[in-house]
Amino acid sequence: MIGGEDEKKMEDIDIPLLTPHKMGNFSLSHRVVLAPLSRLRSYNFVAQPHAILYYSQRTTNGGFLIGEASGISETAQGYPNTPGIWTKEHVEAWKPIVHAVHEKGGIFFCQLWHAGRASDHAFQPNGQPPISCTDKPILAKTHIDGSTPADFPTPRRLTIDEIPQVVDYFRKAARNAMEAGFDGVEIHGANGYLIDQFLKDQVNDRTDEYGGSLENRCRFPLQVVKAVADEIGADRVGIRLSPFANYNDCSDSNPEALGLYMVESLNKYGILYCHMIEPRMITQFESQKTKDSLLPMRKAFKGTFIVAGGYNREEGNEVVANDSADLVAFGRLFLANPDLPRRFQLNAVLNKYDRSTFYTHDSVVGYTDYPFLETNN
Ligand SMILES: Cc1cc2nc3c(=O)[nH]c(=O)nc-3n(C[C@H](O)[C@H](O)[C@H](O)COP(=O)(O)O)c2cc1C
Repeated sequence: MIGGEDEKKMEDIDIPLLTPHKMGNFSLSHRVVLAPLSRLRSYNFVAQPHAILYYSQRTTNGGFLIGEASGISETAQGYPNTPGIWTKEHVEAWKPIVHAVHEKGGIFFCQLWHAGRASDHAFQPNGQPPISCTDKPILAKTHIDGSTPADFPTPRRLTIDEIPQVVDYFRKAARNAMEAGFDGVEIHGANGYLIDQFLKDQVNDRTDEYGGSLENRCRFPLQVVKAVADEIGADRVGIRLSPFANYNDCSDSNPEALGLYMVESLNKYGILYCHMIEPRMITQFESQKTKDSLLPMRKAFKGTFIVAGGYNREEGNEVVANDSADLVAFGRLFLANPDLPRRFQLNAVLNKYDRSTFYTHDSVVGYTDYPFLETNN
């Protein structure tokens, strides 16, 4: 238990993670970002009232939160009970959640997501096959968490004429997110979902203008960026990328070239931020040592650069202090510690996360019942 004089003394210490950062027009009071975390508690693809408490627990005045992956169309979903952002009902359901975050002074972005081939007939309209850039299925036998068994179906390759329609789903979803009150959107271009499937040369086997060269593979992702930026303003748009990762069987033969090509192209659109997963992440949850680094991308990108993947307090402070990132997104630690920035400030003990309830559907257990730090105040 920490309190009184001890707390006062520790609060006087400024750690790099808790210094302010100006992200475009947003004045962030600290650099501890809530990473996007699918919690599978949005029944029938509709965000639920219990998310009000979950997100507001994790809100601080001037803190930046990225919402869980939200489906942009009826073909976008790949798991049960993930929220959507493509209908009026979805928009209405998000409104009170966003409002609660704003009441506490938080800045809240909606993550726009299309699962592509990382889906199943069960989540598709009329039981159709999921869509992708390819008709090669994911061969991995587990889901992205590395443990849940999976047997992915053969996807349907989008025709060239259908691609503008998918771009337009992203645009409309961005508009919907703004209507729900979000401050902006993060385009989910990471983790082996639809956009990443187009980007990576081990998946994208197209021979038309959307496959082959780097320029061609990046075409659809950049069309999405442009459409969304034109719709809501580039100063409200971020993107998440994982060039080095191989989640959902989605890898590239030259991740650094891919990452650099993307950030240099993103500079032309002047978007707000680029959010990258560290190369060390071999699965969603496990990390290993590697010589690969995000530094070339950090140096090349002109906006705010966010890193994620296996960070703790010490490494977060270090990456900010040596200017290798502006902000650090925390996933599992923030999931289990609703008051994470405060705990970092006090260097307090952290709650341990319970992996068994990450993706269960209860509205409280493993969701809003992680305790806050007790104090004598
Ligand atoms: C329960 C859970 C759900 C996740 N859902 C998403 C998601 O919706 N979108 C996304 O981009 N990443 C998602 N991730 C990945 C996290 O954002 C993050 O990159 C990952 O947990 C590694 O960071 P960490 O070591 O701080 O946990 C999820 C991770 C976890 C543990």
